[in-house]
Amino acid sequence: MALAEHAITFTGVGQTFLTDSGPLTALRGVDLDIAQHEFVAVLGPSGCGKSTLLRLTSGLMRPTEGQVEVFSTPVTQPRDDIGIVFQQATLLPWASVEDNVVFPARHMRGRVDAKDRARAREIIATVGLEGFEKRLPGELSGGMQQRVGIARALFLNPDILLMDEPFSALDALTRDAMGFELLRLWQASPKTVLFITHSIPEAVLLADRVVVMSERPGRVIADMPVPLGRPRGEDSLRSPEMQDYMAHLRGLLIKKEVA
Ligand SMILES: Nc1ncnc2c1ncn2[C@@H]1O[C@H](COP(=O)(O)OP(=O)(O)O)[C@@H](O)[C@H]1O
Ligand SMILES: [Mg+2]
Repeated sequence: MALAEHAITFTGVGQTFLTDSGPLTALRGVDLDIAQHEFVAVLGPSGCGKSTLLRLTSGLMRPTEGQVEVFSTPVTQPRDDIGIVFQQATLLPWASVEDNVVFPARHMRGRVDAKDRARAREIIATVGLEGFEKRLPGELSGGMQQRVGIARALFLNPDILLMDEPFSALDALTRDAMGFELLRLWQASPKTVLFITHSIPEAVLLADRVVVMSERPGRVIADMPVPLGRPRGEDSLRSPEMQDYMAHLRGLLIKKEVA
């Protein structure tokens, strides 16, 4: 594949929902172009359509206006080269860690073979949960459950990883650690990442580019590159450049909803 291949393209995308109280326009005129292996963070006030943006990319929904393309092909249905991680890990509570991770295989093919099990164990180790394969989700901490969710999303080795505020429900320390883990995984096995967050430090620390959305109807009001070296760590956040990027974003998001 060519280096600058378009992974995700939004062209004039609008989304209007029909609700009991009339039409509600969540997104209007969204243009966005994400290259393969780019890590893009999306920041914006609550209700501005961030999750909608993600659902449109995943094929769980079709836009009411404009076009969404993945690898230059219009998105018409869910694709198995896209993995999704939500704010809550949404694991099957009665199934072991390993059974949760192989779930995409069962869902797609109706069965799970020894190769799937081997792949699951490999990916479970990659997210730092070796030895927890047979545990139930209820026996794990929130951070560990979210690792299982990430392992499940990575199980089919997707080219694209969509993450909807994946670390928001975690305590601050776990959240930072998970961010660094994610960068490690992304660097070991490059993927296109669309990462939705409420946190300015998280966005600048992780992403190659930060996209800022307006209040509803959401549209892109800023698209800021973060041309900082990698790997990034705790120190990166203290660098003067990083401080400048964060101040700039804070200025754009003056409404204090976004911290
Ligand atoms: N299926 C739906 N039906 C009706 N309204 C919806 C639906 N999904 C989202 N919305 C509305 O669209 C707006 C954007 O929602 P969402 O994308 O979840 O925002 P965000 O993730 O930025 O908080 C909200 O006002 C929400 O209530
Ligand atoms: Mg949301």
